Parts: sequence; C-alpha cells; structure tokens
Amino acid sequence: METKRSTFTGKIGFVLAAAGSAVGLGNIWRFPYLAAKYGGGIFLLVYIILAVTFGFSLMMAEIAIGRKTGQSPIGAFQKLDRRFTFVGIMGSIVPALILPYYSVIGGWVMRYLFGFVTGQGSEMAVIDKTEVAGALTEISFFDRYIESVSEPIIWFAIYIVITSVIVLLGVQRGIEKVSKIMMPVLVVLIIFVAVYSIVTMDGAIDGVIYYLKPDFSKFSVMTVVAAMGQLFYSMSLAMGIMITFGSYMKKDVSIEKSVRQIELFDTGIAFLAGLMVVPAVFAFSGGDETALNKGAGLMFVTLPRVFDTMPYGDAIGSVFFIMVFFAALTSSISLMETVVSVLQDKFGMNRKMACIAVLIFSLVLGSISALGYSAWSDIKIIGMSFLDFFDFLSNNILMPVVAFSTCVVVGYIIKPKAITDEVELSGKFREKKLFSVMIRYIAPICIVLILISSILDVFGIVKI
Ligand code: TRP
Repeated sequence: METKRSTFTGKIGFVLAAAGSAVGLGNIWRFPYLAAKYGGGIFLLVYIILAVTFGFSLMMAEIAIGRKTGQSPIGAFQKLDRRFTFVGIMGSIVPALILPYYSVIGGWVMRYLFGFVTGQGSEMAVIDKTEVAGALTEISFFDRYIESVSEPIIWFAIYIVITSVIVLLGVQRGIEKVSKIMMPVLVVLIIFVAVYSIVTMDGAIDGVIYYLKPDFSKFSVMTVVAAMGQLFYSMSLAMGIMITFGSYMKKDVSIEKSVRQIELFDTGIAFLAGLMVVPAVFAFSGGDETALNKGAGLMFVTLPRVFDTMPYGDAIGSVFFIMVFFAALTSSISLMETVVSVLQDKFGMNRKMACIAVLIFSLVLGSISALGYSAWSDIKIIGMSFLDFFDFLSNNILMPVVAFSTCVVVGYIIKPKAITDEVELSGKFREKKLFSVMIRYIAPICIVLILISSILDVFGIVKI
C-alpha cells in the first residue's frame, strides 16, 4: 500500500500548479511559430476549437483518472486495467524525450538573456544579406548562433545542469514561487510588446489580420495535425502529467472548473504570444511567406529586432528573457521530476542516481539535437533535423497513441460513467454529454485519422 498522498491545499493551489506546468516554452516559443507556419487565423481557429472540445475532454479524463486511482500514470493504468499498463509506461517515456530538446531551447533563451544583459541587443537584431549560389539570402544572428558548434551546447549544458541541481536539491517550491510572481508580469510584457509593434511598425496590421482572420484556403489536414500536436504539448496532455496532478487533488475541488481555468490560462498566453510575434514578422518581411516559415527560430529572430526598435530595448529584452527563462525552468523541472520519479518508483533507483541518469541521458540526446543545426546539419531523419524529429516523435506519434489508448480505456473499458461519477463528487458535470461523446467517438476517430495522415505525410506517401 502506498502511503497517503499529500494533497494540494485549496482550489487555487491546484490550478496554479497545473497551469505552471502547462505554461512554458510551448506557449511562448512553439505556438507562435506554428501559427505563422500553418496559415495564421485558420490555425488559431482550429486550435481553439480543439482546445475547448478535445483538449477539455482529455484533460478531464486524465485528472479524474489520477484522482480516482490516487496513483501516478503507470500505477493508475495498472489499477484500471492491467492490459493497459503500457499506456502509462509510454506516457512516461514522453517527458524523457521532450526534456533534452526543451533544454536546448532553454539554452537559446539563456544565450539571449545573457546577450541583452550585456548590452548586445542590437547585435542580436542584425540580419546580414549574403549571396549564396547567386541568390541573396538573409542570415540572422540566430542562424549564425545555432550553426556554431560549441556555444549552443555549452548554454544547453548549463541549462540542464541548473534544472538537475534544482530537482536534486528538491527546491522547486522556491522556483515555482518566483515564477508565479513573474508570470503576470510576463503577460503584461507580452501585451506591451504586441501593442508596441502593432502600433509603431508599418505592415504589422496585415500581420494582425493574418493572425486573426481565418483563411480557409490555407486549411489542410496538416493544420489539424499540427494544432493537435501543439494542444498535447501545451496542455501537458497524453504523458501522464495531469494524472499525477489529479492524484494530488482533493475530492471536493471541482475538476471541471479547474480544467476550464487551466485551459483559459494556457490558451490565453499562447494567443498573446502569437500576437506578439506574428505581426512583427509581417512588419519586418512585408508578409513574405518564407519569413513565416522560419520555424523553430522565429521568436529568436523576430523579438530582438522588435526590442531593437524600442527605447531601452536592452533593458526590456533582459526583463522579457528572464521571465521566459523562469517559465521554461518550471516546465523543465517538472518534466525532469516526472522522469526521475518513474526511475525511483519502477527501477528502485535512489534519487541521486536517478537524477544523474536523467542528466546524462539528456546531455547526450540534447547535444545531438543541438548538433543537428551545426556540425550534423546534413543528417536528416525522415527529412527532419534531430530536434524536429524528437519533437515530432513525441508530439505527433507517441502522444496521439497515448491519447487514443486513454480514450479506449475510458470509453470502453471502465466506461465514461466511472469518470463522470468521479467528477460529480465535487458538483455537477456540466459538459457531461460532450465529454462522453468526445471520449467514445469523436476523439479516438480523429486521433487515428490524424496519426495516419501525419505518418503518410512524413514518409512522403501522400502530400497533404
Ligand atoms: N506544456 C509545457 C509548455 O507549454 C511543456 C510540457 C510538455 C511540459 N510536457 C510537460 C511541462 C510536462 C511540464 C511537464 O511549455
């Protein structure tokens, strides 16, 4: 028997802790570049629809499973149905895959923070025009930075070591407190930067229109694939995190209300981050499609240029990146904590050993991700760089499989009633119908279609 689990103190404690884990680089870095790449308004629309139906149902299910079983993911699925223990195991592998490349990006954030603090703001905003094979190409500070071999690895190593030390010392509480204070300031700053660039820069309004107005001709299956992958990632779904959170939740706290609040928080910050980045890209590029397709580096190319046009740009840039750093840090701590606790529980490792094992594993996988942009940039796995590949593997393959299995377990093995009963321990379940239909029919069918189409797309069998 397990010892009694500690629980979150009041309602707000639970929501803040879950939101703290959900809000991170996914919202500030990943969402804007995906929105830019997959058609702006149409991506935003698809994302929001998915969040309030599909994301809502899945998060309800996960939190309720956690609270019902009082266990972490592997134990939880084992308790529900032995045959589905593998879902818990697969879910636990996801954070181990995300942590290394998440930390590479954490390293980028630290490099930029260092740059702004030491007054290199304008330097980081420079874009050189060079001739490559007769064509004029733009090379940004960011391009040159990630193409250098050792620097990104050093920053990444510093970042992951900081994360490990915090997890090892068990002082995450302190970090979380700091980040909770910083979070509202970050939101204010994001709004400020968004408004500033929209008001002061030529062409930014076109970017706002691109971001807000859905253009249905830009819709493709890949829009949904990308939006769903982002949904899993941003809400920390399909990897057992919310099951673990649920297991600490008191029986009298409303799961439904909490999920709505977490959702609003998470989607709201992503939305604002998009508003900050996408119009600025337009202003600088004149709406050029290739600029919108920049991918992972978008935020790091655009924001220094925005800060460069501002009075006190270096100071604002410093404050901004320090807050992004803390938002990222709380997420990577929680990712690492998950992996460490699985190693402790299931492999009987002591905490120190488990931390060291995760650190070494992450150093290897993260270095590979970083080198994928520099020394090994010629090596591609199914057409992707290493970082993109790890991102794709976790978000577009493993998470859908875990999500699908969760739907099957809830919809057909334990039945939705088991979950709705748990939810109703703390009041009425308003969206009960939506939940049951979603979990049994719509979600599993969508996930399968999405999984198949993203696999076909990657292997170039069908271009969608
Ligand atoms: N949701 C986090 C973000 O948006 C990233 C993330 C994914 C995460 N899975 C997680 C964070 C698990 C903590 C725990 O950045």
